[in-house]
Amino acid sequence: MATSFRSVLVTAVLASCQFANAQNPDDQADRKLTLTPPSRHKRPSLTVSKCTTAGGCVAKEKSVVIDWNYHWFHTEDWLSCTTNSGVNATLCPDQATCASNCLVQGASNYTNNGVSTSGDILTMYQYTINEDGEAQNASPRLYLLGDDGDYEMLQLLGQELTFTVDLSTLPCGENAALYLGEMDKTGGRNEYNTGGASYGSGYCDAQCPVQNWKNGTLNTDGSGYCCNEMDILEANSRANSFTPHPCSDTDCDRGGCGLNPYAAGYKDFYGPGGTVDTSTPFTVITQFNTNDGTTTGTLASITRKYIQNGKLIASADPKGDIITIESCNAIDGSAAQFGSLPTIGKALGQGMVLTFAIWNDAGQFMNWLDAGDNGPCSATEGNPALIAQNNPGTHVVFSNIRWGDIGSTFSNAGSGTTTTTSKPTSTTTSSPAPTQSHWGQCDGIGWSGPKACASPYTCTKSSDYYYQCL
Ligand SMILES: *[C@@H]1O[C@H](CO)[C@@H](O)[C@H](O)[C@H]1NC(C)=O
Ligand SMILES: *[C@@H]1O[C@H](CO)[C@@H](O)[C@H](O)[C@H]1NC(C)=O
Ligand SMILES: *[C@@H]1O[C@H](CO)[C@@H](O)[C@H](O)[C@H]1NC(C)=O
Repeated sequence: MATSFRSVLVTAVLASCQFANAQNPDDQADRKLTLTPPSRHKRPSLTVSKCTTAGGCVAKEKSVVIDWNYHWFHTEDWLSCTTNSGVNATLCPDQATCASNCLVQGASNYTNNGVSTSGDILTMYQYTINEDGEAQNASPRLYLLGDDGDYEMLQLLGQELTFTVDLSTLPCGENAALYLGEMDKTGGRNEYNTGGASYGSGYCDAQCPVQNWKNGTLNTDGSGYCCNEMDILEANSRANSFTPHPCSDTDCDRGGCGLNPYAAGYKDFYGPGGTVDTSTPFTVITQFNTNDGTTTGTLASITRKYIQNGKLIASADPKGDIITIESCNAIDGSAAQFGSLPTIGKALGQGMVLTFAIWNDAGQFMNWLDAGDNGPCSATEGNPALIAQNNPGTHVVFSNIRWGDIGSTFSNAGSGTTTTTSKPTSTTTSSPAPTQSHWGQCDGIGWSGPKACASPYTCTKSSDYYYQCL
């Protein structure tokens, strides 16, 4: 679905970022590309939680880093090493020369890039407003870093990811995205790029973007960088979808096999005043169910649930909001060509990088997300020029991000406000197999895990592939 916007976006923001950073040249240590102690690099902290059925949720303070391409690359004399169309070929004819000529500047002022954090809350603005009151495109993209200066690798096979989101200010044409990409854990850190992940390098996705650097290394042959991508949420206040994009080394299922409730015919489910009411915050739960209920099996389905005002909203579709191998392959031939859900499952098992973005799309106005069959927006109202004029304050707020065992990240009562350090209130404690806990899978084609549900839940059919303890 998402087309080739991301590389476009990076190029588009470069000019404004250089400008922004040039205002504060000394507010962050600059480093030779070859000399970058990650520990000296200041980034916004963000609290996230890991959860288990037995132990509840444990909060940990991590940090987010803005993408490598949003940093300024310059010589010691403050000449830019990048141009609007790529790198300066005189300064950067090859990796080693580039590293000796250029420094990478820390993007210390995240406010200038539209980003702020507080505790477990992450806020991202599409635009920043300058002294003259004009909207300047910020469109930040961030990654979650671990404690070691490498990316935090989320291993979500047989697990679930839950967060709360406020999309109330995002109009047609905006896309607030929370997704997973199979980037290198170190961001491709090497002798010529010792910053690596802690400077946001190594981005890849299922659109195979062509960037100035590829897996941390200067990209001298103009090649794209493809990797498995799992879009957990791509949304504004009017439409939303979640989409697996399996890949090979050289290409991907670029359209993906996503699920968008509006496109599936449930037109009143999601939106302002909808069943999921986007005028206020809500919680999004995404479960990666394996064929055998373990964290090492084959990814068989992905299920989606929402919580709002303490109430669990199971799905738009009475059969459940679920992507199965079968439904994924039914969209077109592309997913199957790249191994469908099992390919995504392998990446989820190995670990993927949590990515946050807010962007809009001057080429297609995000019609694939929210217009025509996909949502209630007109084909033209997603024009970024209109958004900047009418909604310059548009922003997304992500909070209370947590992941772990299926059923461990939210409570039975459906409360979306489980505090990060407390145990979900009414989850049956560490009940061992053979009974399955509330919300867990209990039957379906290919299922070999526990079929009995812990009291008082009963095994309920969602589809031939997925039964759940409800
Ligand atoms: C590239 O860098 C050289 C050396 O600093 C400079 O003279 C030249 O103007 C730069 N070219 C561009 C297109 O920025
Ligand atoms: C970041 O930039 C903003 C806007 O230019 C400014 O108000 C703020 O003081 C800067 N913060 C730091 C830490 O330099
Ligand atoms: C990315 O770079 C890292 C570090 O050099 C390397 O281990 C990894 O194999 C590279 N990945 C790809 C896909 O090139």
